[in-house]
Amino acid sequence: MSLYGNAAAHTETNCICDLRSDTLTKPSPGMRAAMISASLGDDVYGEDPTVAQLEQELSTRLGKEAAVFFPSGTQSNLAAVMAHCGRGDEMIVGDSYHLFCDEAAGVSVLAGVAMNPVPVSDDGGLDPEHIAAAIKVDDPHYARSRLLSLENSVGGRVVPLDRIDAGVKVARDAGLAVHLDGARFFNVITALGCDAATFAAPFDTVSVCLSKGLGAPVGSLLVGPSEMMGQIRRNRKILGGAMRQSGVLAAAGLYALEHHLPQLAEDHAHAARLAGALRATGIGEVTSQTNMVFLTPKPEDHSRLARHMAQAGIKIGGQSPAIRMVLHRDVSHSALDAAISAFQDFQPS
Ligand SMILES: Cc1ncc(COP(=O)(O)O)c(C=O)c1O
Repeated sequence: MSLYGNAAAHTETNCICDLRSDTLTKPSPGMRAAMISASLGDDVYGEDPTVAQLEQELSTRLGKEAAVFFPSGTQSNLAAVMAHCGRGDEMIVGDSYHLFCDEAAGVSVLAGVAMNPVPVSDDGGLDPEHIAAAIKVDDPHYARSRLLSLENSVGGRVVPLDRIDAGVKVARDAGLAVHLDGARFFNVITALGCDAATFAAPFDTVSVCLSKGLGAPVGSLLVGPSEMMGQIRRNRKILGGAMRQSGVLAAAGLYALEHHLPQLAEDHAHAARLAGALRATGIGEVTSQTNMVFLTPKPEDHSRLARHMAQAGIKIGGQSPAIRMVLHRDVSHSALDAAISAFQDFQPS
């Protein structure tokens, strides 16, 4: 079984509540209707009005000049790194961040960019001293330090803005560009209650996913300065991500921004409720922020708990030692009630 999925799970018919990821959401009826009626054109010709509208909408919201629509967050991150770095350059990145751990080292495999991982602190941020220590002097023996790549949220945790600013300052002072993997950008601004442009301001480029809590089936946007967009579109083409009548997907994104974004706060409230209920069970240590909950049962209870929950029709993450649970728009109040009651029925050893 992989960390995230379980092929057998797809054949189970008794699933009441799927807490494995916010990527599992299905398009809502309103979103499907918006997709069907979208105005379309060939976006490789620059003629899809719905893609253009989505790109405009995101860049305006984030206070940046331009945006490019991508099929995935992985490709959007990779295209950003390729725009900031050349072969033999190096990026500094958190040692638990998605770009370092979960994107198949694409920046190294495809772009010849070295990754220099630094420790991620308990709040999900990087310490400015670690960033400073990772920046290499200009010496022919070394890769060239070119980019600081941050992530927020990190495993559901919101890295405080002052921590971001401190790290960005170190990078800027050394002439590095700064990218944000903001896959769950809108969960962060929902939690902080700040506007998108304020949160995006420190970064040159920001990658935002529509296919997580926002509930779109596909899509991410890379947002940044106009002068980089030619290179970024070229990178997307190189990576095979230029799409034709992709307005059918962009329409889902526009719908998500208008109708689903306001509901993210409810996912956060559900996560807090699940976390509170889990703490009361004494099954294990619980942490939670934004739409994620992590439960660390005793090692001897781990697989028994997974079996118990599966029998009750509740899918939980397969990670160890901490099990990840992600709240999303397809987890209803009653599904959450069912999950909580299944946890309450479990007898820890
Ligand atoms: C933090 C983070 N960044 C990037 C990605 C990559 O997004 P995608 O699955 O669309 O490639 C993910 C996916 O879960 C993620 O959690």
